[in-house]
Amino acid sequence: MGRFNRESFIIRDKDVLRDDYQPENLEERDEELDEYAATLRPVIQGWQPNNVFLYGVTGVGKTAATHDLINELRESAEQYDDVNLNVIELNCTGCTTSYQVAVNLVNEIREPSHPLTSVSSSRSAMSETGYQQKRIFNELYSDLEDIGGTILIVLDEIDNIGSDDDILYELPRARSQLDLDVKLGVIGISNDFKFRDNLSPKVKDTLCEEEILFPPYDADELQNILSQRAEIALHDGVLDGDVIPLCAAFSAADSGSARQALRLLRKAADVAENEAMSGGKAQVTEEHVREAEHQIQRQQVVEGMHSLTRHGQYVLLTVCQLAARGETPERTKLIYEQYQQVVKSYASDPLKRRRVHDHLSDLSLHGILELMDSSSDRGNYNEYELDVSLSSALDALENELGNLDHVREVAEENSLLD
Ligand SMILES: Nc1ncnc2c1ncn2[C@@H]1O[C@H](COP(=O)(O)OP(=O)(O)OP(=O)(O)O)[C@@H](O)[C@H]1O
Ligand SMILES: [Mg+2]
Repeated sequence: MGRFNRESFIIRDKDVLRDDYQPENLEERDEELDEYAATLRPVIQGWQPNNVFLYGVTGVGKTAATHDLINELRESAEQYDDVNLNVIELNCTGCTTSYQVAVNLVNEIREPSHPLTSVSSSRSAMSETGYQQKRIFNELYSDLEDIGGTILIVLDEIDNIGSDDDILYELPRARSQLDLDVKLGVIGISNDFKFRDNLSPKVKDTLCEEEILFPPYDADELQNILSQRAEIALHDGVLDGDVIPLCAAFSAADSGSARQALRLLRKAADVAENEAMSGGKAQVTEEHVREAEHQIQRQQVVEGMHSLTRHGQYVLLTVCQLAARGETPERTKLIYEQYQQVVKSYASDPLKRRRVHDHLSDLSLHGILELMDSSSDRGNYNEYELDVSLSSALDALENELGNLDHVREVAEENSLLD
């Protein structure tokens, strides 16, 4: 048989496990969906829509729920002649200022590219630079006036704009600025709690008229979400009974994210599929989930590693050595002492302590280390430990620093190699 053929033993439809797949029903979100729907109901009554701020950690269904509800709302609105509902959706990834959001909104109106956007305009797109902010806002207002009716603007991942949040003040205010009969509502979506807390008070008053929190999923909820997907995505009977509970448990313990749980299941199915292709059994087992988790973590470290300098790698290796001896979490002061030894063994000169601190906090930003605040009678101090498995960190480091079996051996002696 050739390398490429259509045979599959495990996976029936891989697209169903992808992130952008829109499930028919959102499991375990009835309460939030009811609450969300209630804030959108005025649209059907022909009233001014509410502004809504939707928040919750990553992967908990904020975007999926919004797409679901807006589609439902649109269908309902079609039944009423006096409701003319127009939706503009923008994912604000890459927009770091209100200015960029405004230009991108104008261009979304003129050349729709997001799934929910239902308007279209014959005007030509604007370039992203070179105008005064006021000019852009005016263009936006006049486009909105042209569209007319009820307009919902969905700003997904709005936290990208940081503290430059003028647009969130301007848009809701545009209601009163527009003379024509336009009813405007803004839906802001964010997974960054700090962003919400740091919104300027005037924005909070307007945008956060209605706030809806999507909490993380627990293991039971994740199991239902995964089962629903697996049923469509995988062939019947290929899942061992403990696969879904294990995927759910891993993700619930870490983030409560459905995205993470789905990624783990997808990877486990992939690993099992590859084995089946080369003559193995057509079955996904607990072992495959563990292997998948290891691969994902390793990938995460490898990706984080791209941004590390050589000394960043030494710092990570230092924490690995400490972890192999069972000495993590460890205080930065002691990590620094150990780091000096590591650097010496690579015949290099150590960085100043301050810079090593920077590397440690960099590594924790990348999810490779975890920062813990600890306190004792002598005050507060920072401690770090690995936030990925020791073996995935060592695998990834080995690509850069050469063989690290000596660290593995120490870990094995201490039964700490996962
Ligand atoms: N309740 C659910 N039922 C079924 N699938 C779900 C549910 N919640 C989330 N998912 C799935 O999990 C994945 C992530 O969901 P979604 O993209 O909506 O997360 P999000 O909250 O918008 O995350 P982010 O903040 O990172 O954008 C999607 O594939 C989505 O279909
Ligand atoms: Mg989202």
